[in-house]
Amino acid sequence: MIKRRRVTVIGAGFMGSMHASIFANMVGCELAAIVDPNLDLAGVVAAKAPGCKVYASHEALLAVERDLDLVSICTPDNLHLAPAVAVAQAGINVFVEKPISSKVEDARAIIAACEAAKVKLGVGYLLRFDPRYAAARELMTSGKIGEPIHIYARRNSARTEGPKRYGGKLPLALHVTVHDVDMVLWMLDGQHPVSVYAQQTDRLLGAAGTQDSLAAIVRFSGGTVVNFESAWSLPSGARHMIDARMELIGTEGAFEVQCGDSGLYYAGSDNSREIDTQHWPTVNGRIDGDLARQLNGLLAWLDGAAMPIATGRDALRSLELTLAMMQSAESGEIVRLG
Ligand SMILES: NC(=O)c1ccc[n+]([C@@H]2O[C@H](COP(=O)([O-])OP(=O)(O)OC[C@H]3O[C@@H](n4cnc5c(N)ncnc54)[C@H](O)[C@@H]3O)[C@@H](O)[C@H]2O)c1
Repeated sequence: MIKRRRVTVIGAGFMGSMHASIFANMVGCELAAIVDPNLDLAGVVAAKAPGCKVYASHEALLAVERDLDLVSICTPDNLHLAPAVAVAQAGINVFVEKPISSKVEDARAIIAACEAAKVKLGVGYLLRFDPRYAAARELMTSGKIGEPIHIYARRNSARTEGPKRYGGKLPLALHVTVHDVDMVLWMLDGQHPVSVYAQQTDRLLGAAGTQDSLAAIVRFSGGTVVNFESAWSLPSGARHMIDARMELIGTEGAFEVQCGDSGLYYAGSDNSREIDTQHWPTVNGRIDGDLARQLNGLLAWLDGAAMPIATGRDALRSLELTLAMMQSAESGEIVRLG
């Protein structure tokens, strides 16, 4: 018999409403509550599941609801700490959207609270559930690639998407590049970054409070060199939703992950675009893609299944490397890591 899991989502915005939809439709899962200071928004999201309650804060939630298996935290990056620590201290498993936080000390405090309470902590690095990246990693772990020599990791999108939502709130590196940083650290298991040099520019989007593009070169302890390229400044007419790819050259083989072409191209009378088939497409009325696969995997992980959910410690590593890129871009100097 499938064990029924009671889940709550904190933060009912862009990501939280999708988490809620996915949990509401998941077999063996009950969406118990939604938390957001905007109670109207929380109510709209809670309407996805019969009997789902709403609360204005995590304090109000935890004063009433203790019988929860998992809380998914989808608040803005700088507001992950307080709900994550409180949920862990209540003995409930924690899932935090990426990045774990915008600050290393907050990330460490979240990890410490979860370890002290002996609850699980997962972080939302959904690319680990994209079949292309996951299969590429298997090529690595199966030995078909040999030793990794060089990686190129790219993630470019239109100025009308990310900067519109996150301009003035989130740096490009912490929102976009961090996905590839997690992926590279996952691929290069056993190596650690030793030096970082990065440059970024804000000639277009500086006025909107964010950066146009970032280029970083990272050297790893085993000698692998990684070239990161991220931009959210493509023109609004760009056909790609996200032009993402990863190319790896190894001593015995190479791979290329191509996500630039979503495989679904739409043209109307005065516009054209590719439609998402990767992250959160609606397929037959339900949210699908790597986000849904990740949240399904998360519940299986809570039940003890081996799943590639990023842990708090994985997320701390990706945060530290991404912050080092930002530090290098700001100073113009190479940042050396331990
Ligand atoms: N995995 C991905 O690809 C991906 C994509 C986008 C965003 N994110 C991450 O998801 C998180 C949420 O981003 P978003 O785009 O959904 O933001 P958003 O602004 O759309 O939603 C955040 C919601 O949190 C609510 N909120 C603020 N403070 C709160 C508090 N103390 N308690 C409860 N609710 C609170 C806000 O009212 C808002 O409704 C961020 O960490 C972001 O970086 C991840």
